[in-house]
Amino acid sequence: MCVNCITRMTNDDYEKRAWNTGLITAMLWTAGLALLTGLALFAPYKPDVKTAYSSVAMITHGGFLGFVRNLHHWLSALLIVLGEITLIVGIFRGAYRKPGQWLWLSVIGLFLVGLASQITGHLLPFDVQAVRTAVVETSIAQNAPVVGVAQANLMRGGPSVGPATLHLWFVFHIAVFTVALIALLVTIPVLAKKLGLTLNKVAWVVAPLAVAILASALLKAPLGNPASAADYNDFTALPEWYILPLHSLLTLSQSVSPGMAFVGTMVIPALAILLLIALPWLDKTGHAAWSRGLGTVGALCLIILLAIGGKDLAPPVGNQIVASSRGTASAGQKIDSKLIAQGRNVFSAQGCGDCHSIAGKGGKIGPELTAEGTKNASVDWQIKHLENPPAVTPGSTMPKFANVKPADLSALAQYLVSLNGKSK
Ligand code: HEC
Repeated sequence: MCVNCITRMTNDDYEKRAWNTGLITAMLWTAGLALLTGLALFAPYKPDVKTAYSSVAMITHGGFLGFVRNLHHWLSALLIVLGEITLIVGIFRGAYRKPGQWLWLSVIGLFLVGLASQITGHLLPFDVQAVRTAVVETSIAQNAPVVGVAQANLMRGGPSVGPATLHLWFVFHIAVFTVALIALLVTIPVLAKKLGLTLNKVAWVVAPLAVAILASALLKAPLGNPASAADYNDFTALPEWYILPLHSLLTLSQSVSPGMAFVGTMVIPALAILLLIALPWLDKTGHAAWSRGLGTVGALCLIILLAIGGKDLAPPVGNQIVASSRGTASAGQKIDSKLIAQGRNVFSAQGCGDCHSIAGKGGKIGPELTAEGTKNASVDWQIKHLENPPAVTPGSTMPKFANVKPADLSALAQYLVSLNGKSK
């Protein structure tokens, strides 16, 4: 008999070898408690752009309610981290193999619902970072070819982030994802029981709760300044930690070519999720070496992506908007009309218009540049930004144009500074 094979096994073997029941227990309790704390926040929260921020500010300063908000914040963070660990450990141990395939799919579901709840929930306080993060997230979705704009408009409930986005994300947060969560909280224990797994290890219930309580006592859930309509078009958000692997994939694929952004943000993540879902049917070998190898690769990929994006990370607490000093025109700055014309040509040659619009023409992935010169009037600032956008605008997802000829780059900068809102 093949000693490394775990295809034909009894339910007892399955429990011992394949699933880490402690991790599933921890995920279920974390999700359940996130749900309960969310219910407590439901009544005092007012989901309207005029009242959302002030209602969250009231909750935050409301003694016990403030603590509940912290708990909700940290439990939902913990759910994502636990989900990633559970899935990687699950691959490593071959937990996805039959007869565990349905439990495997449900755990993937719980992780994805946790992630979706995190993304939508992050907007609800409607502070500056919340709104700008939604601007960046939806513009990343817009980056996809063909379906990009439609998909982004659907996510935002319109052509830009605004009041409709808040309503839409609130409904998904409290209705759609909550119903899915409850369904999974019921299904997972049933499926586990069928496999003969017992989810009753008290330590795995206490541990996540202790972590969440400790984090809530030490680190307050952030609330920055209230957002205004100006933030609906502002891309100056540092990436949040839960989006970090995606952010790293974006910067990696853009360094290959700016037009490849959607490969990093959509194609690769979609393939990764499809692979996770299809694993029970793809891997029929039953060899432990196979799943261990795959689990190791998965863990390494995640660690590398976290390391690559780590430097761009938003701090977990406090006001997260880093003010970038966007210079004003310096005294000696000469604007030359020939250079402006040359800059306009460089603009179209470099494909800037794929992402930016000027006087109504062009893409919408980046901010509109019709009046760029009134916003960032310094040629030096423009050159620095073009050479390395994230160095000037923390978290920027615009590709670097460092290898454009210096003469073209400064002509381009002159052109940008000349844009003053009047059509050219
Ligand atoms: C793949 C999409 C993409 C391409 C291509 C692109 N940009 Fe951007 N751009 C962005 C995004 C996203 C931002 C917002 C983040 C930032 O400010 O760095 C931005 C920001 C800017 C800003 C600052 C706008 C402001 O007022 O805040 C300028 C200026 C700019 N881009 C110019 C250019 C020029 C010139 C080119 C061509 C050489 C170009 N961009 C190509 C996506 C892009």
